[in-house]
Amino acid sequence: MSEILFSETRIGSRNIKNRIVMAPMTRSRALNNVPNELMAEYYGQRSGMGLIITEGTAPSPNGLGYARIPGIWLQTQIAGWKRITELVHENGSVIFLQIMHTGRVGHPENMPQGSDVLGPSAVAAKGEIFTDTSGLMPLPVPREMNLSDIRRARDEFVRAAENAMEAGFDGVELHGANGYLLDQFLQPDSNRRIDIYGGSVENRCRFVLEVASSVSEAVGKDRTGIRLSPYGVSNDVSAFPETEEQYVYLASEINRIGLVYIHLVNHSSMGAPEVPMETVEKIRKAFRGKLILCGGYDAERAAYDLMEGPADLIAFGRPAIANPDLALRLESGAALNIPDRSTFYTPGEKGYTDYPFLNHAE
Ligand SMILES: Cc1cc2nc3c(=O)[nH]c(=O)nc-3n(C[C@H](O)[C@H](O)[C@H](O)COP(=O)(O)O)c2cc1C
Repeated sequence: MSEILFSETRIGSRNIKNRIVMAPMTRSRALNNVPNELMAEYYGQRSGMGLIITEGTAPSPNGLGYARIPGIWLQTQIAGWKRITELVHENGSVIFLQIMHTGRVGHPENMPQGSDVLGPSAVAAKGEIFTDTSGLMPLPVPREMNLSDIRRARDEFVRAAENAMEAGFDGVELHGANGYLLDQFLQPDSNRRIDIYGGSVENRCRFVLEVASSVSEAVGKDRTGIRLSPYGVSNDVSAFPETEEQYVYLASEINRIGLVYIHLVNHSSMGAPEVPMETVEKIRKAFRGKLILCGGYDAERAAYDLMEGPADLIAFGRPAIANPDLALRLESGAALNIPDRSTFYTPGEKGYTDYPFLNHAE
C-alpha cells in the first residue's frame, strides 16, 4: 500500500519524484543570517525527498525575529541560497523557500539596527524567546502596524519571492501558520484591529490574501504555495468560534487566486488540539490545487491519507531532521534514527549533518 508514497506527482510545472516532502524547519545554523556551505550539505543530504521546503526565511530585517535564521533580502543571502538550490537540483529534488516574517515573535537583540518588532496590534505573545546575547527574554509588545507598514510588509514578501527566483528556487511557500506575521493577522488573539484588516473573517484574511495575490502575480501562481495551521496554538494563538468558517473562506479565496498548494499543519503530535478531519475535508473541497498534510506522520499513515484521505503529498518534520535518507528508509521499511531535540537550534554540524545514513547505521 505504501507504493503511493513513492509515486511521482507534479507541483505546477515541476515533476516531483515522490510524495515525501521535507517540512520547513528552522535550524538556526545561518551565522550572520546568510546561508552557508554547512546548510548546503544539510539540504543536499536530504534531497531524496521529492520536495524540500526550506526553514523559515526572513524577507526583511523586520521579519528576522530569531537568532541565526537566514534572510533573502541581501545579495550575499541570494548567493548563499543559490549554492543550495543548485545542489538540490543536481540531486533531482525540487525546493521551495519558506518566507517567514516573524512579526511580534521576535526580539530586538536578534534583529538588525533600525528594524522594528511589528504586529497587527500592540499585543505581546505570552512567552519567551532565545537571544544569543542575553539568553531567554520575554517577548516584547510589538508596534501596531499602520497602513503604510502593511503595504511595506506585503512588498517585502514580493521582493523576497523575486529574490528566491533569482536564487534558483522552484517556488515559495508563504508562512501563514504557527503564529508568525501572516497568522497573527488571521487570529483574533493577536489581531484586535477595527479597520479593514480586523474584526471579521473577511477582514482578518485580507492581508494574507493581498500577500498571496501580489506574490503570485510577481513570480507565478504555479510557484506560490501557502502553509496554514487552523486550530494551531503556537506562539500564543488559539482556536476561536469561527475557525472553521474562516479557513474554509480562506481556502476558497486562495483557490480563486490559484496558488499551487495549501500545506496544512496538524500539530496534535506536539500537544495542539487535533484539526478535525471534517475541516480538512471542507478545505479540500474549497481548494482545487495540491494539498500537503503535515504532523506526526509515519509511512503507514502517510500512505493511508494519500490513498483514502484528502492528501496529495505528505510532509515530514522531525523524521527528516534525524534521517538524511528518509525516503530510502521509508521505502525499505528500515528503522529511523531518533531526533535529538537538544541540537535542533544549536550552531554547528552536531545534530545537523552528522545523522547516520542507512548503510552506516548500526
Ligand atoms: C526544529 C523545528 C523547527 C521548525 N521550524 C519551522 C519553520 O521554520 N516553519 C514552519 O512552518 N514550521 C516549522 N516547524 C514545524 C514543522 O514544519 C512540522 O510542522 C512539525 O515538526 C510537525 O511535523 P512532524 O510531526 O513530522 O515533526 C518546525 C519544527 C521543528 C521540530
